[in-house]
Amino acid sequence: MRALILAAGKGTRMKSALPKVLHPLCGEPMLAHVVRALDAAGLNDVTVVASPELCARMDKTLGRKLRTVIQEPQLGTGHAVQAALADLAPGEGPLLVCSGDMPLITGELLRGVLAALAPQGGGGPRVACALVTARMPMPSNFGRIVRDGGGRVRAIVEVRDATPEQLALDEMNAGIYAFDEGLLRALLPRLSNHNAQGEYYLTDVIALAVADGHAVLPVLCADYRVTLGINDRVELAAARRIMNARLCEQWMREGVTIEDPETTYLESGVKLARDVTILHNTALRGRTQVGEGSSIGPDSELLDTSVGERCLIGRSVLTESRLGNDVRVGPFAHLRPGADLADGVHIGDYVELKNARLGKGSKANHLAYIGDAELGSNVNFSAGAITCNYDGTNKNRTKIGDDAFIGTNSSLVAPIEIGEGALTGAGSVVIRDVAPGERVVGNPARALPPKT
Ligand code: UD1
Ligand code: CA
Repeated sequence: MRALILAAGKGTRMKSALPKVLHPLCGEPMLAHVVRALDAAGLNDVTVVASPELCARMDKTLGRKLRTVIQEPQLGTGHAVQAALADLAPGEGPLLVCSGDMPLITGELLRGVLAALAPQGGGGPRVACALVTARMPMPSNFGRIVRDGGGRVRAIVEVRDATPEQLALDEMNAGIYAFDEGLLRALLPRLSNHNAQGEYYLTDVIALAVADGHAVLPVLCADYRVTLGINDRVELAAARRIMNARLCEQWMREGVTIEDPETTYLESGVKLARDVTILHNTALRGRTQVGEGSSIGPDSELLDTSVGERCLIGRSVLTESRLGNDVRVGPFAHLRPGADLADGVHIGDYVELKNARLGKGSKANHLAYIGDAELGSNVNFSAGAITCNYDGTNKNRTKIGDDAFIGTNSSLVAPIEIGEGALTGAGSVVIRDVAPGERVVGNPARALPPKT
């Protein structure tokens, strides 16, 4: 089914170089949330009415290609629909029209307005349009729904054109319409711009349709917050809060404990298993996934990170990292891209990892840096030890075998390989490979006689 998303407006109130509908909330641009709602309602033939600036940046930001029609100059919402229809072959059936700045809409709401347009039988007047309305707290900048004595919708009046009596009406036009496309095409050329904003209002189609004897059916949305449009950054923050609360609620219903939803920040790509616990002041972003029984937080941020089962992560920052089961991280650890921790690994306070794989049961419990490295299982990487992975020009790799013991304040100058079961003494500066079972100490590190 066909849909138009109106998104060519200047969005001046955002005061931004970025087109309004590309501003993100909960991990995705506004426009992506709208497209997802359309998808959920089976509206997969989507055309975006865009400004040239939006058109230039849209595909890259969304990560997918949508059909666009450029509207230039932007002479109002009615003009935007005219521009789109001039570009599309006439279609049969319903045409859904909504805006790119309403990221809280749901597939359910769209299905409702499409169902209202569907022919009912019984021989009444032809339905030109079904539209979503909502009762809102006042004052409001939304267009007012004007009904007649019989409760039938007669017109939509914009705030700047409204009489005081019309301004007092608290039923608003959400800006979501299902049109009979044939009738809409016939009515659009009759719009005028004789109004306070000098624009061609799509909303004026309603009075024209009614004057021609067609029906306009309102679909009252019980929760006005679903229809909130975003015009500035204050409204963006309010919408983010609502969307975040929705995501928290959804995961709590799936069996996740969220200590404080007010300070838990989730994004729409996040996946959580049951019996996950999220402690206060924690953000899970991007494609982060957390396995059953794991606890994240407080004061933590995970981006595009996958966490296994029964892990404990506190007061830490993890980016593009992978954790197996029963892993402990923090407090105050920093896992940078490519940290890959096998089951049972422990990472303690003030430890930084980057592009490093740690095998089963390995530990770096305090004050360490491990970068561009591969550690076997049960390696002990002591306090203050580091991989010197950068020689000023190149990044070099460190390899450490199973059961090796890297002593306090060891500096492993890469490229270097430490064999299985080897030991580096406290403070050693290791500049050559260490054989399996070998023990080295000093600066530069030299072999100790084998243990007797
Ligand atoms: C519009 C409605 C109003 C409704 C409100 C709901 C009109 C005249 N008014 O007002 O009744 O209560 O939405 O959110 O329709 N756009 C274009 N080209 C243009 C102008 C706008 O594509 O020339 C796009 C905008 O980018 C935006 C959408 O249309 O996504 C709505 O335009 P906006 O200026 O935000 O209209 P509102 O004043 O919010
Ligand atoms: Ca708007």
